[in-house]
Amino acid sequence: MEIEVIVGNITKIDAGAIIMGFFDGMERPEGDLAVIDEALDGAISQLIGQGEIKGKLNEVTVIHSLGKLPAARVVVLGLGKRDELSCDRVRMAVGEACRRLQQRGISHAATVALGAGISVDVAAQAVTEGALLGSYSFRRHMTKEAEHGELKQLTIVEADETKLPLLQQGSYKGRVLAEATKLARDMVNEPANYMTPSRMAEVAASLAQTYGLELEVLEREQMRELGMGVLLGVTQGSRQPPKFIVLHYRRDDSAQIDLALVGKGITFDSGGISIKPSEGMEEMKSDMAGGAVVMAVISAVAQIKPKINVVAIAPCTENLPSGEALKPGDVLTAMNGKTIEIISTDAEGRLILADALSYANKLGAKRIVDVATLTGACHIALGNDCSGVFGNNQELVDKLIAASVDAGELMWQLPLYEQAKEQLKSEVADIKNVGGKWGGAITAAHFLAEFAGNTPWVHLDIAGTSLSEKDRGYIVKGATGVAVRTLVNLALSLAK
Ligand code: BES
Ligand code: MN
Ligand code: ZN
Repeated sequence: MEIEVIVGNITKIDAGAIIMGFFDGMERPEGDLAVIDEALDGAISQLIGQGEIKGKLNEVTVIHSLGKLPAARVVVLGLGKRDELSCDRVRMAVGEACRRLQQRGISHAATVALGAGISVDVAAQAVTEGALLGSYSFRRHMTKEAEHGELKQLTIVEADETKLPLLQQGSYKGRVLAEATKLARDMVNEPANYMTPSRMAEVAASLAQTYGLELEVLEREQMRELGMGVLLGVTQGSRQPPKFIVLHYRRDDSAQIDLALVGKGITFDSGGISIKPSEGMEEMKSDMAGGAVVMAVISAVAQIKPKINVVAIAPCTENLPSGEALKPGDVLTAMNGKTIEIISTDAEGRLILADALSYANKLGAKRIVDVATLTGACHIALGNDCSGVFGNNQELVDKLIAASVDAGELMWQLPLYEQAKEQLKSEVADIKNVGGKWGGAITAAHFLAEFAGNTPWVHLDIAGTSLSEKDRGYIVKGATGVAVRTLVNLALSLAK
């Protein structure tokens, strides 16, 4: 989709549809909408009077102009209550409107930088993100064409010429963030027979080429040399070669890595010998979402070019059962020398992250943030819309949560209280990979903390949020790309 920002009057724009905001509680059209209402002989006022237009958030009312306006349709878009407006509500509502217009086969729409009271660059960013993300679809494996075409163009119309540069800046940033999120969605939606560890490494290579990132892909042999015994243990049941992807973005003169982003890259999680029930197992193609997120984030950072050094690390493998697979009761040695008793081969995410966190520490990273579809327990605790946050450093936790607010991604800190750690005591090794039944998201985070060491570290559990069951606003059914925008914001906030 092309998004352009122009100077003009929205009421005079020729397009398949013009999208106009409307607040819950407004009794009559105001401003440009009043002008449009008049041209339509009061159609909008009538619909308001009849209670059909209420202004509830994400409410979409399509009115045909029947030649009374240059635009073929007017979309009255509910933005919720005026005093509750946020940039995420704009993002949501625009996402909803654009998806519905696309479903009606409309190829060109126009709107204004919606969001009274929000600075225009932020509003233009939200409109852009909403439009691009809301009209996203994944059809790579459909041989039939879609029933409708694409929404190909969105024009953001601004009356005041002096605001144009700000709008353009905001829209550009929105595009970079949305395209990165779409990249993560594409990777996660891709079936596991396509999105193998090798394919992830190919995607990394193409990102490195396009955005000038430094790439290193460690193969099994190098994993052995580095002593990554846990990653090797998880991968031994699979025929696909594991890949340990490292992408560097360097823009600060000092050699220090300011931020290491570590993402879980399990391209398919069957559970291994501790095999999962078959119902819903197909969703486990999405277990590399963390890896996709860190790759998408660093590609967006490379486009925005902040003064900071960032590394993205994605340990990638399948988790499958076989005659050679890892077994419950086995003991593995991690790169940092710690020994781990395997209780469940289905708690494989924390295993591969143990070596990846050790690796980030070996690189001397100043801060580490890991992102992983780690525990069903986190999904149960926080639901479908909120990711879990843990950390050993409150300042970094607070920075991440602040970054998530701007992105409109809900995140909630859960506690790493000491007592839960007891559950990980092993009789035969330094630690075991699973605690008891209770507090599963917390014990998983405690396990990771052992490998983060003293480095300021935050862990993001996106098991409940990486997939959506339904279309809503700019979220579409399937992969959400959650955490991409938050982590780009975090990197920008850490830059000098
Ligand atoms: N990949 C799963 C977690 C998951 C579950 C993500 C559902 C998305 C949706 C992870 O590897 C896993 O299997 N975790 C186990 C841990 C348990 C064995 C301690 C879980 O949550 O059941
Ligand atoms: Mn698992
Ligand atoms: Zn998993």
